[in-house]
Amino acid sequence: MDYKKYIAQRIKIEGVAEEEIYTNIVSPPNSEMGDYALPCFRFAKVLKKSPASIAEELKSSYVTDGVVTEVGAVNGYLNFKINKSGLSDEVLNKILTLKDKYGSSETGKGKTVCIDYSSVNIAKPFHIGHLSTTVLGGALYKIYGFLGYNVVGINHLGDYGTQFGKLICAYKHWGNAEEVEKGGIHAINDLYVRFNNEADDTMESEAREYFRLIESGDEEANGIFEWFKSLTLKYVQGIYEKLGIKFDSYAGERFYTDKMQCVIDELREKDLLKESDGAQIVDLEKYGMPPCLILRSDGASLYATRDLAAAYYRKKTYDFHKCLYVVAYQQNLHFQQIFKVLELMGNDWAKDLVHVAYGMVSLEDGAMSTRKGKVVWLEDVINKCIEKAYKIIEEKNPGLDDKENIAEKVGVGAVIFGALYNNKIKDIVFSYDKVLSFEGETSVYVQYTCARANSVLNKSGEEIRVPSGYEPNTAEAEVVKQLADFPQTLNESAEKYEPSYIARYAVELAQRYNKFYIENKILTAEGDSKYFRLALTKAVLQTLKNALSLLGIGVPEKM
Ligand code: ARG
Repeated sequence: MDYKKYIAQRIKIEGVAEEEIYTNIVSPPNSEMGDYALPCFRFAKVLKKSPASIAEELKSSYVTDGVVTEVGAVNGYLNFKINKSGLSDEVLNKILTLKDKYGSSETGKGKTVCIDYSSVNIAKPFHIGHLSTTVLGGALYKIYGFLGYNVVGINHLGDYGTQFGKLICAYKHWGNAEEVEKGGIHAINDLYVRFNNEADDTMESEAREYFRLIESGDEEANGIFEWFKSLTLKYVQGIYEKLGIKFDSYAGERFYTDKMQCVIDELREKDLLKESDGAQIVDLEKYGMPPCLILRSDGASLYATRDLAAAYYRKKTYDFHKCLYVVAYQQNLHFQQIFKVLELMGNDWAKDLVHVAYGMVSLEDGAMSTRKGKVVWLEDVINKCIEKAYKIIEEKNPGLDDKENIAEKVGVGAVIFGALYNNKIKDIVFSYDKVLSFEGETSVYVQYTCARANSVLNKSGEEIRVPSGYEPNTAEAEVVKQLADFPQTLNESAEKYEPSYIARYAVELAQRYNKFYIENKILTAEGDSKYFRLALTKAVLQTLKNALSLLGIGVPEKM
């Protein structure tokens, strides 16, 4: 049951919708005053009364029952106590029945969400800056799916542009097939870097010619390009497999080559296209933005042109309810522009396009910049985390079987969790020590809690059942309440495009469970207490697993 909803339905405030009351109800971190609370400050303006007197009035009109057993008004807060025994019965039984489906719903039934994420650029290896889009998008993909949406994961490949002419030129001058085949994407990237450092005017003009050849369908140029593309995809596939990421479409920029003309025609028909220094633009001055460039003076299309075509294509193909673009905030303006242009073209669905912007990731030692100099490749970060995890596990628990597998789950989990724990818009400084700590707010801490729960359950060997009518103590009730909040956390995380809510939820549930674990005996407890605590342990383990798996993180049995 959604207790917040239950309470919201029973409160009437003039001029305030039930939905608004619902979203304002909080679960206070300390439940002495109440299990749920409604702060009344927000309503003071509408009602022209002090928060304290609003709380008092609401208190006297609220009718308690077997679910909400007590209501109090303190300092402008309306506090509710709920029947913990009823709550425990309901929540624990639900989790133990639903298992890995606990938290899933049909909210999104019949609705499609497109998620454009990770969007690889051909011939460019992933550096740490590509981590967020990949794991954020991957998590949103899983979360929306869990909530019953039909999800389409799109890798909008960066496979169009003059740089591919340069790349072919560099390969022709300095490359050799064997080396490229062996060195893969890094060998290709080296050629590109070399071109930027060493190419003279002759090579520059050759590069333009190669680009033209790709465009005009020349067999040799396209053959080399396709080869580079397949090496790139093979490389990212390795990373995706580690991170548990998948896509339904790899339709990249090039795919839209023949789909731009109709957009350009439509822009012209609607009188939105203007000439400016020989280029074709959409003037956005009225909206406080620089013009959106549609065609360069030489007639070439741009990144924005291809994104306009892609938006139309996605609407037509998937009829999305929403289309998300998980792209760094550096592209804020780009998305504001294309969303505005689509709106000006009269597409009411332009409001369903969402730029899910996120902040930068850098490493502690400041290494990050791509242009020459220090670049940190994503695969190196992942591998280093796995290695470090292995060392830590070996130190802590040398007798463990299958350390390699465990280290992989712990190390990969730490990378993902490190990128997802904070609000996505924040810049992050990635620290190996921090993400791999057993004590901090980390996936390792959560995984370790799972291993602890597993070990309790294995030692007991008892059949799990929820004793009915059991009155939980404070620590137990705190865990139960957190368990009950999982479905709502998922909804909020989807609504705000914030997997971080789930990451934080998992840490908090683990903290509450550990507090309970320290304060209470389990295996040696008597009668119902023992059964209740075992059921609670199992429910926590299941819910933590569900939460981590939505982020793409696995849980080892032992650690
Ligand atoms: N490949 C682009 C980049 O690395 C990101 C593409 C994002 N998606 C899009 N539809 N524009 O900047």
